[in-house]
Amino acid sequence: MSTEGKVKRITTKALYLLKKKGIKITALTAYDYMHARILDAAGIDVILVGDSLSNVFQGNETTLPVTMDEMIYHTKAVTKAVERAMIIVDLPFMSYQLSTDEGFRNAGRIMKETSASGVKLEGGERVAETIRKITQAGIPVMGHLGLTPQSIHQFGSYRERGRIEEEAEEIIKDSIIVQEAGAFAVVLEKIPADLAKKVSEQLTIPTIGIGAGVYCDGQILVTPDMLGLNENFHPRFVRKYLNLRDDIENAVKQYISDVKDSSFPNQEESY
Ligand code: KIV
Repeated sequence: MSTEGKVKRITTKALYLLKKKGIKITALTAYDYMHARILDAAGIDVILVGDSLSNVFQGNETTLPVTMDEMIYHTKAVTKAVERAMIIVDLPFMSYQLSTDEGFRNAGRIMKETSASGVKLEGGERVAETIRKITQAGIPVMGHLGLTPQSIHQFGSYRERGRIEEEAEEIIKDSIIVQEAGAFAVVLEKIPADLAKKVSEQLTIPTIGIGAGVYCDGQILVTPDMLGLNENFHPRFVRKYLNLRDDIENAVKQYISDVKDSSFPNQEESY
């Protein structure tokens, strides 16, 4: 089969080489076809179909309610749009916590039903066996340490993790465990920049930071946050590149006004 004219897909090896060369990895979340197409056209390296879907798409307070079926539904829309970026899918809460076999089965289901390139799951030592089993089946796994939102009820708040020495040591130890279990990359969420630097330097796999400072090998943000779609969410780690919420509201107001005063549609917009 000819591969002429085909865009080269980002792979785990490509991400590893970016780290080796000191070139930063870029990642954003997507949950639908239109956004995924734009992110891919812009040249993003990794698209995460994150379980933040639960918050920003479904309007839930936490990531806990989103289901396997819903993650698969959204991922199918994303994979249809993307030619170059690597697409990673979050294993949702309770899809891998019950047992290693359950996590393995659900990771396989995502790969079979969506054409994604890999899965992400949260935790260190306690999920090491699951990471090992999934990767041994040829499925790339991204780890996730620091503030892991699926454990929010255990943490009790969204404050940063790793400020206390005990927590920092656990994150350092878990990052090595996750790498040794076979993960190809690890997300570091909301931890001090110096700790993320230490972790990034000690690992051969890339670290992807969110609220973890500039020393990570790459960065990820939740796309609706960086586009300024959520007026009630202003953590300091989010840089807003647009104020899309206001732009959309203004466009809708203009449309309402144009319809009301019959200036839409005009002659060119009619048959
Ligand atoms: O679900 C998500 O969007 C994530 C990112 C915050 C890394 O896990």
